[in-house]
Amino acid sequence: MKYKAIAAIFYFAMASLAGSSMAATSSKTIPLSIGVAWYPEQWPESRWEDDLTLMEKAHVHWVRVGEFAWSRMEPSEGVYDLDWLVRAVELAGKHHIFVVMGTPSASPPAWLTQKYPETLRTKEDGRKDEHGNRQQFDWSSPKYRELARAMAERLAVRFGHDPNVIGWQIDNEYAEQSFGPTTRTQFQQWLKARYGTLDNLNQRWATSYWSQSYTAWEQIPVGATRGNPGLMLSWQRFVSDTWRSYQKVQIDAIRAHSEPRQFITTNMMGFFDRYDHYTVAQDLDFAAWDDYVGQGHLDPTRNGAAHDLTRGFLRKNFWVMETQPGFVNWSQDNNALDKGEVRAMAWHDVAHGADAVGYWQWRSALNGQEEYHGTLIGSDGTPVPVYSEVAQVGAEFDRAAAWLSGTEPQAEVAILHSYDSRWAVNWQRHNQSYDPVDALLSYYKQLRRQAHTVDIVAPLAPLSRYKLVVAPALNVLSDGEAKNLIEYVRQGGHLVLGQRSGMKTVDNALQPQRQPGPLTELLGGRVEQYYALESPVPLDGQWGSGSSKLWAEQLGASAPDTEVLMRYGRSNGWLDGQPAAITRRVGNGRITYIGAWLDGMTMSHAVEWMLTDAKVRPVAVDVPEGVEFSIRRDAQHEVWIFVNLNAGAQRIKLPQTMTDVLHGGNVNQLSLDHFDVSVLSSNVP
Ligand code: GAL
Repeated sequence: MKYKAIAAIFYFAMASLAGSSMAATSSKTIPLSIGVAWYPEQWPESRWEDDLTLMEKAHVHWVRVGEFAWSRMEPSEGVYDLDWLVRAVELAGKHHIFVVMGTPSASPPAWLTQKYPETLRTKEDGRKDEHGNRQQFDWSSPKYRELARAMAERLAVRFGHDPNVIGWQIDNEYAEQSFGPTTRTQFQQWLKARYGTLDNLNQRWATSYWSQSYTAWEQIPVGATRGNPGLMLSWQRFVSDTWRSYQKVQIDAIRAHSEPRQFITTNMMGFFDRYDHYTVAQDLDFAAWDDYVGQGHLDPTRNGAAHDLTRGFLRKNFWVMETQPGFVNWSQDNNALDKGEVRAMAWHDVAHGADAVGYWQWRSALNGQEEYHGTLIGSDGTPVPVYSEVAQVGAEFDRAAAWLSGTEPQAEVAILHSYDSRWAVNWQRHNQSYDPVDALLSYYKQLRRQAHTVDIVAPLAPLSRYKLVVAPALNVLSDGEAKNLIEYVRQGGHLVLGQRSGMKTVDNALQPQRQPGPLTELLGGRVEQYYALESPVPLDGQWGSGSSKLWAEQLGASAPDTEVLMRYGRSNGWLDGQPAAITRRVGNGRITYIGAWLDGMTMSHAVEWMLTDAKVRPVAVDVPEGVEFSIRRDAQHEVWIFVNLNAGAQRIKLPQTMTDVLHGGNVNQLSLDHFDVSVLSSNVP
């Protein structure tokens, strides 16, 4: 039965991909596919056919086009030329290739910024940006928004009903802020709307410190360097809201002229933190990100966490809109991924919930800033070596699409992540090596290894589906977030707070209680003092003997039923013999505070303890170190994905017989070579 259902999905998906006149898909995505960034505007039209033929051979199912082509789309003000793009989209369709249409606002044409210099961004030192690179626009400029909206609208009118166009990408990698007078006024208005009165703002920012009190809104500066923590956090929130409204202008223009089946997304950047991605993602159909290794090789922990982070923006599967076909051009040393690693990485993406993987780029422009970047075809227009590996990925995705369609990673464990907290810690690290993302990864690595699936979500996300919630360095804790966490514990969840949690209010002010602030009472304990460490301090207790690096918090238990799990050994005297981890049962729930940065082995034991206590019972499969194991599921079946990142071959015994999706047949054990991948389904036909 199940097999038939899968076969039906497969047929539908492939029919819409391969039909001679491509029918519009009813869903907002295609199940599993590879794509490429293609820039037809850089080549004579006579070349397009060859490009698309080679793409089709490589099982490429979509091209992303247009995102830097404004000067071709509107060569002079109000003169639009989209006919060439219509022809490119049509030709792609003939090759059974869908199109993701990029709006071109990341690179305004020279005539535009010449005529409207106010659309150029003002750098933090007051100088104006110039034409010649990209992202030179001011995201807060009303004029720029008007021009970008008009362009997006033109595109939507032309392509909003085009069956070959499956969706939209707004702009490209939001990044640069602007600090000119218009932005300053907007920021002051934003503050007024948020704080209401200057008295309120002054009090919440504690501006009597250093005579910072404001008597007029116009006095408040912009920017986020070396300022009052309340001011800096507000600025970052304003920046995020401004990206959201900038994006919304284009989304609205497109929505008004397009069919609802077309998705709208934008390409984000993993752990990049210059805006709050939860804010910006709200208006998108799904999140997408650009996944570049840069120098070195795939780090499955960091990269996997970035996938899970992106999946958490909207709590659903996502796209990898761009990834490197081998190498980039912007690192110090732009080594290539090893042979086989591009494929391993693509499957690692899917394992974490990616439904599409796009390669940047198809072919390099013959001039321009990125001549050295990895591509799929060379400057002569014929395939480079990595083309065949990408083609293999494409063929495998086609084979696996029906099995993976509708499946997603489903976690019983969540890690909380907040931009407010990351900013707050990064502005006052107190120990310069204290990186809040590394703190998150120290938990993530073991949680992922032992529980197989981990969500990374915002502190305000619904938490009731999770048996265990871990909050590393949740430094800023708003009242609403505290309430969500308290509720979670009271409903029977196990909450683990990591170092530096619950220290700050929503205004980045110190909580009037010690850490973890509003959770102190529930914990029946608190942080007596924090210490930035010169060298690791020893630890001992329930999770064995280990050490804490960079940071150590001396904890105290005030409630009689708060237990001490770990204690510090001899170090700076203050910490000697003091609690390093405490826990308290609350009804059916539990709250734990870990004041130490646990070393790998101790973390492994701590995670084992957390999972057991929370009754998380992961699939029992013995996965060797260096093999990435992930599960995607829907209501009927599970798909298991193994990726061997070890230099040597690995054998894995499966606890049950499974269908080998890529090779056919049934298997009950695996032998995986270096970078080898196995995709298995629990559904045995
Ligand atoms: C991305 C960008 C692409 C291209 C790529 C090169 O950040 O979106 O346009 O520049 O980097 O790695």
